[in-house]
Order: sequence, then C-alpha cells, then structure tokens
Amino acid sequence: MAMFELRLVLICLLFRLCFSEDASKYVTLELSYITASPLGVPQKVIAVNGKFPGPIINVTTNENVIVNVRNKLNENALLTWPGVQMRRTSWQDGVLGTNCPIRPGWNWTYQFQVKDQIGSFFYFPSLNFQRASGGFGSFVITNRKVISLPFNMPDGDIVILMGDWYTRSHTALRASLDSGKDLGMPDGVLINGKGPYQYNASVPNGIEYETINVDPGKTYRVRVHNVGVSTCLNFRIQGHNMLLAEAEGYYTQQSNYTSLDIHVGQSYSFLVTMDQNASSDYYIVASPRFVNQSIWQRVTGVAILHYSNSKGKATGPLPDPPNDVYDTSYAVTQAMSIRQNVSASGARPNAQGSFHYGQIQVTETIVLKNVPPAIIDGKLRTTLNGISFVNPDTPVRLADKFDVKGSYKLDFPSRPLNRPPRLDRSIINATYKGFIEIVLQNNDTVVQSFHMDGYSFFVVGIAYGEWTQNSQGSYNKYDAIARSTTQVLPGGWTAIYVSLDNVGVWNLRAENLDRWYLGQETYMRVINSEPDPSNKTEFPMPDNVLFCGALSHLQKQQDPSSAASINGWSTLILITLSAMISTWL
Ligand SMILES: *[C@@H]1O[C@H](CO)[C@@H](O)[C@H](O)[C@H]1NC(C)=O
Ligand SMILES: *[C@@H]1O[C@H](CO)[C@@H](O)[C@H](O)[C@H]1NC(C)=O
Ligand SMILES: *[C@@H]1O[C@H](CO)[C@@H](O)[C@H](O)[C@H]1NC(C)=O
Ligand SMILES: *[C@@H]1O[C@H](CO)[C@@H](O)[C@H](O)[C@H]1NC(C)=O
Ligand SMILES: *[C@@H]1O[C@H](CO)[C@@H](O)[C@H](O)[C@H]1NC(C)=O
Ligand SMILES: *[C@@H]1O[C@H](CO)[C@@H](O)[C@H](O)[C@H]1NC(C)=O
Ligand SMILES: *[C@@H]1O[C@H](CO)[C@@H](O)[C@H](O)[C@H]1NC(C)=O
Ligand SMILES: *[C@@H]1O[C@H](CO)[C@@H](O)[C@H](O)[C@H]1NC(C)=O
Ligand SMILES: *[C@@H]1O[C@H](CO)[C@@H](O)[C@H](O)[C@H]1NC(C)=O
Ligand SMILES: *[C@@H]1O[C@H](CO)[C@@H](O)[C@H](O)[C@H]1NC(C)=O
Repeated sequence: MAMFELRLVLICLLFRLCFSEDASKYVTLELSYITASPLGVPQKVIAVNGKFPGPIINVTTNENVIVNVRNKLNENALLTWPGVQMRRTSWQDGVLGTNCPIRPGWNWTYQFQVKDQIGSFFYFPSLNFQRASGGFGSFVITNRKVISLPFNMPDGDIVILMGDWYTRSHTALRASLDSGKDLGMPDGVLINGKGPYQYNASVPNGIEYETINVDPGKTYRVRVHNVGVSTCLNFRIQGHNMLLAEAEGYYTQQSNYTSLDIHVGQSYSFLVTMDQNASSDYYIVASPRFVNQSIWQRVTGVAILHYSNSKGKATGPLPDPPNDVYDTSYAVTQAMSIRQNVSASGARPNAQGSFHYGQIQVTETIVLKNVPPAIIDGKLRTTLNGISFVNPDTPVRLADKFDVKGSYKLDFPSRPLNRPPRLDRSIINATYKGFIEIVLQNNDTVVQSFHMDGYSFFVVGIAYGEWTQNSQGSYNKYDAIARSTTQVLPGGWTAIYVSLDNVGVWNLRAENLDRWYLGQETYMRVINSEPDPSNKTEFPMPDNVLFCGALSHLQKQQDPSSAASINGWSTLILITLSAMISTWL
C-alpha cells in the first residue's frame, strides 16, 4: 500500500500530472474528547486532531477533497460541510438522511470535489448535538489564481469561529431537551475556542482569551463564522470599519459596516484595514442579539486585536451594539443590504450575476412554517408544516438503490395544513431542474437560521409579519445574495429562490441546534428521472459506502487499530519524500 502511494507521488511530481487542474487534497480528521476550560470550568470538549477548534481545511476551487474521518468518540458521528455544495454527490453530505453514521472507533473517507466554488465555510459534527461540544473547524475554498478577486489581494487571512457556549456537555444538553426542558441561557461566547478577555469585573479571572496579531497599515481578510448552538451574534471590531466582501461563497457589494448580525451557521468575510493609531489594543466583540441584552450580558465574546506597534492594553467599555430595541426595521434593513456584486467573478471567469435569477419562471412555491416547540406523543418536539422529522433508519438514496420500502415518504406538504402535528419521515418530492420559491414563515418567538444542503439560494425577501402572495412584489429580483444559511426573524418570513440543478437528497433544517434536534428539518429529494448511464447528473454510490438500518447485514466490520498505524506511517513517508523530491527538482 505504502509503496504504491510512494510510486504514485513520484510519478505525480515528475510529470506534474496529478497536480494540474483538479488536484487532490488529502486530510485526516480525528474526532476525540479532550478536557479544556474555555470558560474557566474544566469540561469535555470535542477536538479534531487534538485541537479545539479543529484545523483549517484550505483547498482551491475544483480540487478533490479526500477526508478520512476517524471517530474516537464513544458515540456515532458524521462530519458535514454546510455551504460546500457536494455537487452530484449527496452520498458525501454527512447527515443522517444521506449517510449511515461512523460508529465509535471506526473511520470513513469522504471524497468530493469543491466544484465551481469559492468562499468561507466550516465543518462540524452533525449528530447527537455534538456541535455544542466542539468538533468544528474552518473550511476555506481559495480561488484559482487565474480568477481575479474583486478586491486587492489581502495581506493576510484570519479565521474567527465564534459561538454561544455551555459548560454542560452536549450529552447533558441533549438530556435537557429529551426531558422537555429548554436549554436556558448559554454560559458564554467563545471566539476560536477561547473565553472572553476580562474587559470588566463581570468576567472571572484566569480565562484564556484569543489575540489576533496584525501589522499597522495592512488589510486582512477576516472570515467570521457563527458555529454556536442557537444565539445570533453581533460582530464588531472597536475603532475599525469592516468592509463586507463575501457571504458563504458569493462576493457581496463591498460596503462598510461597524457591526453585523451573524446568525447561527452563517459565514462572512470582511476586509479590515489596520488604519488606527495603535494607542492601545482593540476589542473584537460578539454579543447576543434578539434577546434581552442586559440579562444576557455574560453571553458576550471578547477577543483582542493587537497591532505589532500597540502602545497598551484595550481598556474602557466595549463598543456599543446596535440600539434597535424599538426599531424592528433595523434587522430587516441590514439583512437586505447584503447584496451580490453581480459583476464580480466568483469561482469562474463569468460574472456571478449572469444567471439572471429574477427573470426565471418559478415552477413551484413551497411554504414552510415553524411554530414554537410543542408536545407530540408526550415529547417536546419542533415541526415544519406540522411534521416533526424522524430520521430514516436507512438513508434515502441508499434505500432507493437497494429498493428498501418504507424508509421515507414523499408526502411532505407544500403548505402548512390545518391538522394536528405528528412525527413522520416525510420528505419533499422536488423536481429536478425546477426553479422553486420557498417561503419560510417563522411563527416561533426566537430568530431562526434556515439552512439548505447541496445548494446556494437567492434571499429575495426578509420581513416581519405574515407572508402573502402580495409580498412577492417586494422581492429583490436583481442582486439578492446567494448563500446557504439565512435568518428568519421571529414573527416574520424569508423568501428564497432555488434552482434545482443538483441531483441528490438534501437536508433542509433549522441550524439552531435545539430546534433541529427536536425535529425541525426535512429533506428534498431531487432526482433525475431520465436514464443517465454515464452518471453525469449523479455520481454512483461510493465503493466504501457505510450500511445501516435495513441494510446493516451488508456492512463489513472494521478493525480500526491496524488502519490507524498504516495511515500514520504512509503519511509520514509521503511528506518526507515529497519534501525531498521538491528540493531535488
Ligand atoms: C480507514 O482508514 C484507512 C487508512 O487509515 C483507509 O485505508 C480506509 O479506507 C478507511 N476506511 C474507510 C471506510 O474509509
Ligand atoms: C464588484 O466587482 C467588481 C469586479 O471585480 C469590482 O471592480 C467592484 O469594485 C465591485 N463592486 C463592489 C461595490 O463591491
Ligand atoms: C489558504 O491558502 C491560500 C493560498 O492557497 C492562502 O493565501 C490563505 O492565506 C490560506 N487561508 C487560510 C485561512 O489559511
Ligand atoms: C461590564 O460591561 C458591560 C457592558 O459594557 C456593562 O453593561 C456592565 O455594567 C459592566 N459590568 C461591570 C461589573 O462593570
Ligand atoms: C470603508 O472604510 C474605510 C475606512 O475604514 C475607507 O477607507 C473606505 O473607503 C470605506 N469603503 C467604502 C466602500 O465605503
Ligand atoms: C490615537 O487615537 C486616540 C484615540 O482615537 C487619540 O486619543 C490619540 O490622540 C491618537 N494619537 C495620535 C498620536 O494620533
Ligand atoms: C430586559 O430586562 C431588564 C431586567 O429584567 C428589564 O428591566 C428590561 O425592561 C428588559 N428589556 C426589554 C426590552 O424587555
Ligand atoms: C414526485 O414528483 C414527480 C414529478 O416531479 C411525480 O412524477 C411523482 O409521481 C411524484 N412522486 C410522488 C410519490 O408523489
Ligand atoms: C403565529 O400565528 C398566529 C396565527 O396565524 C398569529 O396570530 C401570531 O401572531 C403568530 N405569531 C408569530 C410570533 O408569528
Ligand atoms: C455509472 O454507475 C454505475 C453504478 O451505479 C456503474 O455500474 C457504471 O459503470 C457507471 N457508468 C460509468 C460510465 O461510469
């Protein structure tokens, strides 16, 4: 095995074959528990390759990504890559409707291409509430050199993973929800896995905080992700303008913000110029939104921006959050101000806006309504159109291939119905090549993040109140941002357009972990009914597919211990050899 790989590397390096257009990136990610005290209280967190947060995966447009995930947790796990479109291969998406879980002690290798994409994303463990204990990391898709950026090349790339955090583990949080209890207020906000800087006496002593080191005069690309459980965070950097440049893989019209609301699961990149005089360090703040901020004061993340010529520590009060308690238009206006730069090139040389989505005939409108958690069959559950989703025992596409009946139902209602809520396995029968409108109506009292796998969608409208047909008149049909996670305001609606060009089975969910866990999700089955012998529209089932449910008998046992050591050695040899060869050449 190792010898074969060695020869392959030699051939690749000598003839530069394998590193031409669609190169491959090999990554191993091992999930395990470590003890850490991000808020001063020791707790079990999920590390990736021993680190919390996990390593950055940094790939280039069109690269093939081969990720061997080793599960050293004591429960099932899967990693998922929201926003990365997994084109033609929902087999690699890493959620229970598409993949069987990786059992404790086992490993599984994902393989997908980051086809025609650029942008800032993150990965996280999708099962069992694990994201609340960590396991996440940044996933960057860098543009190919031949495609120009719509801004000057930044002097550096900075990643910020922020999120609300509980000192209780994901298993304890799960137990709360299972017993019908709300999670309550989080214990804090972490920035890159670290607690708040002691900006005043309300922050306990001895908490390790994050410091971002910069040089005066330089411009950095700051990629910011909300990886938390359920809290929307307002992000700001004291004394600095943040020029918004990208949202989940699409370049925005560049515009300065002093602060921006970043909802759970959302990602942005900002260009920040270090144009202050460094009379002191500066605060980087992530404070809670859509809650009573005076009660939620401890739920605030504070990191430090440190200029190399800084003359002292950051002092004084934190920069103010938006003051919009009595101004509901603020959140709507800010959300709709994030627009696509239609003339910029994205992953390809042609302009991002050349799709002209506003001129396409909508083939179907689906209204998805969520309501506050309610008791169904004696348990607290959440719903979409009255259906609280139960994951299939056999993933949908696997059930299709092996003709397993009853794994799921194609009867998801396209409108909220006047009938009692229920637990079910209903998914959406979507039409391949359709161009659909989805209206998300949030009847819950908390702000929601809605996420769709496999696609980016156009966010054409966000407003308070009840959506009606007339609301369509207010849509942005010209330069709406395309992204994969959008907010839906409490008592409000969000309308999106999606072009169903990616065959597969794709998860639609609340990215708020508690709402998702309680059943606020479904899938969209987008299937090409035409014969496709060349597998152009959907990749075949991968050879290493894991089996479970009705197909458990097809699964071979794994002996993880032997695989681990082989992998370690071959990687070491490969790295050493590649280094040697590069020096020779
Ligand atoms: C598990 O990892 C080993 C290498 O460490 C690899 O050879 C094997 O293919 C992996 N198994 C799966 C199912 O991906
Ligand atoms: C949009 O992209 C173009 C092309 O790269 C760039 O020149 C322009 O500055 C961008 N405009 C805005 C407002 O971001
Ligand atoms: C990703 O890689 C590119 C070069 O390919 C580099 O310029 C950039 O700084 C890297 N970004 C991160 C966040 O590591
Ligand atoms: C700490 O700072 C917050 C926000 O800046 C303020 O509301 C609070 O009163 C301060 N608390 C103390 C103990 O100084
Ligand atoms: C954004 O703010 C910076 C100063 O921080 C300024 O130099 C720049 O011109 C502003 N850009 C836009 C598009 O407003
Ligand atoms: C640096 O900025 C601070 C705060 O804006 C200001 O008080 C101070 O005078 C400035 N110092 C210089 C040398 O410009
Ligand atoms: C927030 O909570 C404080 C303290 O309980 C209360 O006095 C205040 O009215 C609340 N603010 C809002 C907007 O509800
Ligand atoms: C799903 O939709 C297709 C048309 O797109 C239709 O032919 C098929 O009968 C539908 N299946 C079910 C179970 O409703
Ligand atoms: C929920 O829906 C009901 C009935 O349509 C409506 O009266 C109520 O205002 C809605 N509440 C929210 C928070 O949207
Ligand atoms: C398409 O996939 C099937 C398995 O699903 C395989 O048998 C067939 O050889 C593939 N066709 C091509 C052209 O790769």
